[in-house]
Amino acid sequence: MGMGKATAVAFAREGASVAVADINSEAGAETVAQIQAEGGRAIFIDADVAKAADAQHIAIEAVNAFGGIDILVNNAGIQHYGSVVETTEAEWDAVLGVNLKSIFLCSKYCIPEIQKRGGGAVINVASVQGMASQERVAPYSATKGGAISLTRNMAIDFASSNIRVNCVCPGSIDTPLLRAAAELTDDPQGTVREWEDAHVLKRIGRPEEVAQVILFLAGDRSSFITGAAYVVDGGLTIQL
Ligand SMILES: NC(=O)c1ccc[n+]([C@@H]2O[C@H](COP(=O)([O-])OP(=O)(O)OC[C@H]3O[C@@H](n4cnc5c(N)ncnc54)[C@H](O)[C@@H]3O)[C@@H](O)[C@H]2O)c1
Repeated sequence: MGMGKATAVAFAREGASVAVADINSEAGAETVAQIQAEGGRAIFIDADVAKAADAQHIAIEAVNAFGGIDILVNNAGIQHYGSVVETTEAEWDAVLGVNLKSIFLCSKYCIPEIQKRGGGAVINVASVQGMASQERVAPYSATKGGAISLTRNMAIDFASSNIRVNCVCPGSIDTPLLRAAAELTDDPQGTVREWEDAHVLKRIGRPEEVAQVILFLAGDRSSFITGAAYVVDGGLTIQL
């Protein structure tokens, strides 16, 4: 869904063969169907990216289908609201698992395949919440700060393999995740308007606008960029 779907579609339109991995098989199948309807190549892989066996399965299935892996986009994420006092251990582990451990696991199994191809790119989806924070998003903020740090580490570790590793830090983007977060408030429409106002561009972003930056970071036009955190936030974080 959301940015993952927009990214998969954008890559397919550029001619990439896309392995769409998601825990929600209905949403994944829909994305694959859209790509195929446009004449693109895509497969769906049913996977919980927080589990090692599933992450390994993603690498194996992608190689079986397409003969190798050139680009990995670590995008899956879940939100949970709570301070460290309010958050249960299970909630902490769930958010850490999907948002951060998944980057470790999917990279662990896909990077060796990218190395076999002589190089490629990894793009992690972090958030502006890895750079600044707000009330009651303790585990989410921790994962996004972690994603930015892990991006830098991976960029250093795999530069000699000709693999560039970058991350994007979106502001508020109009996806099912954002709409679900707004629904948790008393006035969902008013909340979205507040979020729009907080951005210098006075709107929230579209998933396609983040997908275009991920596409840029995956291709040769960004050949001298690695370890970077690209803020895609309509100016959300630039004003005091
Ligand atoms: N929407 C925003 O405003 C915003 C802002 C900054 C960063 N982000 C980040 O962008 C990424 C995408 O978010 P989105 O807004 O498109 O969310 P979304 O909820 O619309 O889509 C997330 C996708 O991840 C999948 N997913 C969830 N748990 C999974 C798991 N365990 N295994 C495999 N797939 C799983 C979902 O099924 C869904 O298809 C996330 O990492 C999120 O934290 C979102």
